Amino acid sequence: MLRPYHVPINFPRTMLTKITVVGAGNVGATTAQRLAEKELARTIVLVDVIEGVPQGKGLDQWESAPIEGFDTRVIGANDYGPAAGSELVVVTAGIARKPGMSRDDLVRTNADIVKQVSQQIKQNCLKAIVVVVSNPLDVMCWVTKQARSSSTRPSSTRSSTARATAAPRSSHS
Ligand SMILES: NC(=O)c1ccc[n+]([C@@H]2O[C@H](COP(=O)([O-])OP(=O)(O)OC[C@H]3O[C@@H](n4cnc5c(N)ncnc54)[C@H](O)[C@@H]3O)[C@@H](O)[C@H]2O)c1
Repeated sequence: MLRPYHVPINFPRTMLTKITVVGAGNVGATTAQRLAEKELARTIVLVDVIEGVPQGKGLDQWESAPIEGFDTRVIGANDYGPAAGSELVVVTAGIARKPGMSRDDLVRTNADIVKQVSQQIKQNCLKAIVVVVSNPLDVMCWVTKQARSSSTRPSSTRSSTARATAAPRSSHS
């Protein structure tokens, strides 16, 4: 029987002080909720350019804490002030593929977005490890590395392994 994917051997259950998720869309909001439910940080900051959206989603998630039994505070913002000092930043900002679009179609738009986000991360969370999720992933990692001096990681090897484990015949790539 396969070992559950979400429990790696010797996985450190250390609670960080602060994790920021940039982009409060489908991927970002779900990421923030998962991080909070697993209590991987004392505070999760959700940042997005759309006014009211990260604040509303953050509040909804935080208000679910007494029901779901977690103690992580989730807050939303349209600027990077609350993100200052984050140890980990997950970048999901950008546009997602629409039907008929390839990941390469996303390059120009998402490169501009991720470059701007990376500059903000550099100013506010210089020491953070940055996990890039926005597509096309290899290009967005390169853009992030150009704008920053500390650690940048792609999300895809683990997510690809998870997809292959969960649904071997999935059409994702
Ligand atoms: N690596 C992977 O395995 C993987 C998996 C799924 C999705 N993705 C990629 O993740 C990205 C997000 O997907 P989604 O479905 O959440 O899209 P989405 O459209 O639901 O959310 C994207 C969010 O980014 C925000 N945004 C745009 N510009 C911003 C900026 N400058 N600063 C902060 N936020 C900004 C938008 O307002 C929006 O809320 C896409 O590029 C998608 O292709 C990657």
